[in-house]
Amino acid sequence: MTTLLHFSDTHFGTETPTVIEALYRQLQAKPIDAIILSGDLTQRARLHQFRDCRTFIDGFGMIPLLATPGNHDIPLWCPWERLFTPYRRYQKYFPTDFDRYGVISVCIDAVHIIGVRTTRRYRHLHGELSDRQIDRVGQLLQQAPANCLQLVVCHQPLYVLNKEDEVDLIRGAAKAVPLWRAAGAGGIVSGHIHRPFITPIPYSAHSLSMRPLWAIQAGTTTSRRLRDQYPNAFNVISNDIARVETDRIQNPLGLTQPAWMAALWLYDHKTAQFLPSEQYWIQ
Ligand SMILES: [Fe+2]
Ligand SMILES: [Fe+2]
Repeated sequence: MTTLLHFSDTHFGTETPTVIEALYRQLQAKPIDAIILSGDLTQRARLHQFRDCRTFIDGFGMIPLLATPGNHDIPLWCPWERLFTPYRRYQKYFPTDFDRYGVISVCIDAVHIIGVRTTRRYRHLHGELSDRQIDRVGQLLQQAPANCLQLVVCHQPLYVLNKEDEVDLIRGAAKAVPLWRAAGAGGIVSGHIHRPFITPIPYSAHSLSMRPLWAIQAGTTTSRRLRDQYPNAFNVISNDIARVETDRIQNPLGLTQPAWMAALWLYDHKTAQFLPSEQYWIQ
């Protein structure tokens, strides 16, 4: 059985201690096989903010981690460093063995996770997938063993629910979504917009395959930089049936033999704990 936690947009420097305490209280004793951290680890890419984020992650034990940097993890306030060594601070505390395309791929039990570095030193806010990155991820997806769950992690979303969030869609999404769907991706795991949701990405006129592909979007997990009414949030992705509340789980795709679920957990200020929200069979 495999269980992954998806954290995002921790924005250390603006973290809320009571929320971190709730995460430790609720998750430290649970079996967790890996953590995905989809960018904006820090608020201003200060070294002490990276260090605090590292301490937070290490508090869950020696668990495999796949992290990608977000736009806040590049030191915007230091043009020289931003231009020549934009990821030096990130790599000091979160050494990530990206290949020359800015892609990393790891297998954890029956899950294949591909991380993509989508931030650009010349584009502050908006992310970008280059043609080479899109093709490289497509190759890696096709090379993976059959029957595993394949997740692609990008800081910025490739699919959004609200019109006003379309400005935050990553550049290259229109090409990447049909290609990665056809190559075997089961989920695209993102953050950036601080709006949590889990939803199947609709098919488009460009779809090359009818495989299900989910947008698994975390809100900010620990920051007080909340957007609209959305609280702090994280996601759980698991094939551990004991974790599934079968009376609550939704199956919008009508999967006949589902194996993997994704669940959204939202922070409740009144009780100072994370509570389960939506839960879906995804594959
Ligand atoms: Fe963010
Ligand atoms: Fe961001």
